[in-house]
Amino acid sequence: MSRLGTRIDPESAEYAAHRDTALERLAELDAEHAKALAGGGEKYTARHRARGKLLARERIELLLDPDTPFLELSPLAAWGSDYPVGASMVTGIGTVEGTTCLITANDPTVRGGASNPWTLKKALRANEIARANRLPCISLVESGGADLPSQKEIFIPGGAIFRDLTRLSAEGIPTIAVVFGNSTAGGAYVPGMSDHTIMVKDRSKVFLGGPPLVKMATGEESDDESLGGADMHARISGLADQLAADEEDAIRQARRVVARLNHRRAHPEPAAADEPRYDPEELLGIVPADLKTPFDPREVIARIVDGSAFDEFKPLYGTSLVTGWATLHGYPVGILANAQGVLFSAESQKAAQFIQLANQRDIPLLFLHNTTGYMVGKEYEQGGIVKHGSMMINAVSNSRVPHLSVLIGASYGAGHYGMCGRAYEPRFLFAWPSAKSAVMGPQQLAGVLSIVARQSAAAKGRPYDEEADAGMRAFVEAQIESESLPMFLSGRLYDDGIIDPRDTRTVLGLCLSAVHNAPVEGARGGFGVFRM
Ligand code: COA
Repeated sequence: MSRLGTRIDPESAEYAAHRDTALERLAELDAEHAKALAGGGEKYTARHRARGKLLARERIELLLDPDTPFLELSPLAAWGSDYPVGASMVTGIGTVEGTTCLITANDPTVRGGASNPWTLKKALRANEIARANRLPCISLVESGGADLPSQKEIFIPGGAIFRDLTRLSAEGIPTIAVVFGNSTAGGAYVPGMSDHTIMVKDRSKVFLGGPPLVKMATGEESDDESLGGADMHARISGLADQLAADEEDAIRQARRVVARLNHRRAHPEPAAADEPRYDPEELLGIVPADLKTPFDPREVIARIVDGSAFDEFKPLYGTSLVTGWATLHGYPVGILANAQGVLFSAESQKAAQFIQLANQRDIPLLFLHNTTGYMVGKEYEQGGIVKHGSMMINAVSNSRVPHLSVLIGASYGAGHYGMCGRAYEPRFLFAWPSAKSAVMGPQQLAGVLSIVARQSAAAKGRPYDEEADAGMRAFVEAQIESESLPMFLSGRLYDDGIIDPRDTRTVLGLCLSAVHNAPVEGARGGFGVFRM
């Protein structure tokens, strides 16, 4: 077994500088996470409590097995948009009665828990995770339904929520709805289409139309309770399978439902594994503030894999991409990590071969991103960089083992694709606060625009306004820089969350545990045509 060494010196000025930058970014991240935790703010939280109700996260906490972790997903959804950070919904993975489950909870303190376009994206992503990993899905429902002013963005695509629920069920993945309050109009189809439905006495309201709408539609006089109360649904309509006395009872009953699911993991949890030999705290001292300065990803690998043991594959070939085998919390993984930033032909071919090997052996892949993309220039084009980059992207696209991606540094251009960026459907994708991702770097992008504008002016025989060009460059650079940052990308659901680097091993361990609920089987063949 090969144990990784380290060159990190926690006493060095370099280390201290990297750590200071990381801590600064983590403090900024904490401030944004606090916004998500605050939900709809003090006023609405106080009103919710005064009604004797639990908050979304409190409901989740009571649902989970005591002292077990909750991997919250996309807590910064909607960041940078017109909607509150968190998108009025909490989603994540946790353990209920020993079963790993995907949990979603509306946050009724945020605009009545109504779903806006970002809530929809977040909910659909949660469904995707449940399906890919065969996780039972528990919906903790209390929502004003569609956010009415943004209905044009959500009404038509929003149908997918209900479609997904029934497709999960059809695939044998259990779905459970616990209704704590309003679940009206389209929202009524969440309990309607779940395998198991629990409602809370005097609290749940599940109807297609409330009393005012019924009055408008048919002239009938009615009240909430007779149209959609828990008691009525438990005794008369049969929409509720279980009637709960209060919220705590509903959560207790949900746990009993999970206990009886007989839902089995495809792969057992491995035995406890060795911790890395180096302190994960040192993960803060590795990535430089300026991503142009390269760093050795083995220093990261040494702090996240079991016993810091790593058997490198082709260590002497295509050295700008580190590939090799390890275990993480006992699960086997193949790791691809960028070393010098640029991907050349050799790195691309090495990656394609490595991905095929992982598929032959049914080993999940972990991609650690720090790439500026594939190498450009005459020598490299003539050497077939397009063919070889395509080969790597082909391998990533058609690989069938689960992929996990962590953006630790740069993730630019097609390098983001080859390293299994969001569009390549990694089972999970997280970013460190140091990450940056865009089609190219801000200076390069502004420079390209400037050259194109200059050529266009020359073609028309017009003089080029150098002053305007400088202004344009500065503006574009600032814009692209801000759009490359992890909070912006996380807000748009381009990742599953930004994590503290020190939590990487834990987060990846939870993800690996989740993915092993479904069978881990690689592709045997079935790749597209590799252009050699
Ligand atoms: N779209 C947009 N905003 C909504 C909303 C919705 N569907 N539901 C509630 N809100 C807003 C309210 O306007 C209110 O905003 P304000 O505080 O700035 O005035 C805030 O969310 C809280 O709503 P409020 O009615 O005070 O909360 P509540 O807890 O007493 O009641 C509901 C919550 C969901 C029962 C109630 O708001 C309601 O019936 N909403 C409409 C439900 C509906 O018919 N939806 C159609 C779905 S297709």
